[in-house]
Amino acid sequence: MAANRGQFGSRLGFIFAAAGSAVGLGNIWGFPTQAASNGGAAFLLVYLILAFALAYPVLMAELILGRYTHGNSVAALSGIARGPVTKVIGTGTGLLGILVASMILSFYGIVAGWMLGYTLSYPLDVVGASSAADWLTGFTMPRNLILMGVFMLMTIAIIMGGVKEGIERWSSRLMPTLIITLIALAAYVLTLEGAMTGLRVYLIPDFSKIFSSQLILSALGSAFFSLSLGVGTMLVYGSYISDKEHLPSIGAQVALIDVGIAVLAGFLILPVMYVAAERGVEIFSASGALLSEDTLILTVLPELFATMGTVGVALATAFFSLMTIAALTSSISILEVPVAFIVERFDWSRKKAAVVAGGLIASMSGAIILDFENLFGAVIALSTRYGQPLLGLLLCVFVGWVWQRNTLLAELKKNDPHVAEGLFWRIWPVYVRFVCPVIIAIIFYRSLV
Ligand code: PFF
Repeated sequence: MAANRGQFGSRLGFIFAAAGSAVGLGNIWGFPTQAASNGGAAFLLVYLILAFALAYPVLMAELILGRYTHGNSVAALSGIARGPVTKVIGTGTGLLGILVASMILSFYGIVAGWMLGYTLSYPLDVVGASSAADWLTGFTMPRNLILMGVFMLMTIAIIMGGVKEGIERWSSRLMPTLIITLIALAAYVLTLEGAMTGLRVYLIPDFSKIFSSQLILSALGSAFFSLSLGVGTMLVYGSYISDKEHLPSIGAQVALIDVGIAVLAGFLILPVMYVAAERGVEIFSASGALLSEDTLILTVLPELFATMGTVGVALATAFFSLMTIAALTSSISILEVPVAFIVERFDWSRKKAAVVAGGLIASMSGAIILDFENLFGAVIALSTRYGQPLLGLLLCVFVGWVWQRNTLLAELKKNDPHVAEGLFWRIWPVYVRFVCPVIIAIIFYRSLV
């Protein structure tokens, strides 16, 4: 099996790919406004602590397990089992991860399709094709289906190329573009009237808001979604890392980039909202909260861009391209989870597996679009509120309790012979055994009641 497996060609290539998976719609769509409505810099602080104290250990669990087994998520989890019962649980957890990953991609592909539509609509409007532009941004069933289909085809095409020629090549092209666009947009927006008010809302800490347990739980939930944890994406990417790499440090770099981009997105989104307010655009909901998520991206921002003439067209095109890129580097990582499993388990060619798995997931998206009202929110809640924390919990139990400590240590020693003496090894196993499962169980319980 190992002979025809792909491998990342360089450390940087892996970091771009894994950070590309982590940095997605979640970072730009949700994080900044969540921070603004929940104590600004105080929320940021809680988010940073949780990301490094809880999400990072789970990320490491996935990367180490993937690298050790050099196999897909089902093979990895059943491979470390010590008896028939844990083997069945391991296989079940891997398969559940594939199901949840497919559900995440089925709604992600729809939203990414909208981003693609908005990206194309602005230049089309400039060249006079305004009815095409209107079609691309109007909420209709054919438009939702076609744009989702196009986005899924892009995802499938990259995955068909393989680990190095597909995932690594495209992540290494797209991630620098994303980072440069984000910095350029934020720098420009900060020069506009109203931007400083937004910056104050974002950066002045209000510590009275951070001690609510609801807030801490939601910050943890976003940290998990944001780092793509639980469903096996990071495990599968980890399985393509060379044995020469020092995992704890490259895992830390991925987490830092993800958090860094979320923080950077705050420097764009909050100022942009207050620039919009300055120009008469409504940025608060009836209850007085800042508008967020779909209303923010699909209503507030287009209204703002419309007040800016030609500059608005350029900004809008750059912004929605940024969103599309962020979505694409995440969607490929999700599709890789079922594809790696099918290729290795059934010995299919990668191309065939990508087309079949991608096609099946696209038909799930199609079903959601046909019954949007009932299915869209339900699939998001089921996969991200319940699925991801539950899988994260199972993963920690597996790595912390089922996997033999000596094998785990041997894996880490491959490129750091002194790992057992370092801080990482002293803290991390305790975290994965006790702290992470307990905290995730609390989140899970809270999301049920
Ligand atoms: N991390 C992505 C985001 O922040 O948008 C979403 C995501 C990707 C979730 C991959 C889960 C996953 F497996």
